[in-house]
Amino acid sequence: MYGQYVKDSTRMTTKRDSLVFFVNGQKVTDPAPDPTETLLAYLRRKLSLPGTKEGCGVGGCGACTVMISSYDVTSKRIKYPFV
Ligand code: FES
Repeated sequence: MYGQYVKDSTRMTTKRDSLVFFVNGQKVTDPAPDPTETLLAYLRRKLSLPGTKEGCGVGGCGACTVMISSYDVTSKRIKYPFV
């Protein structure tokens, strides 16, 4: 969640003051995201999606796992990158 890539006529640039992504098929645009907030807190607080839980809080239990995917227009397949 680092920002939105904006394509201009000459090159790809990064605009870091807004956040655009999709959650469950819905486009989310946040013009002023808090860079210190975790994805877990963002999903629960801002998007009212309480399904993602905080268990151990240290990366040991997997309760906070979120699946991230993107659509590859070249292969026309959904990809699930390791992050
Ligand atoms: S709360 Fe994230 S791994 Fe346990």
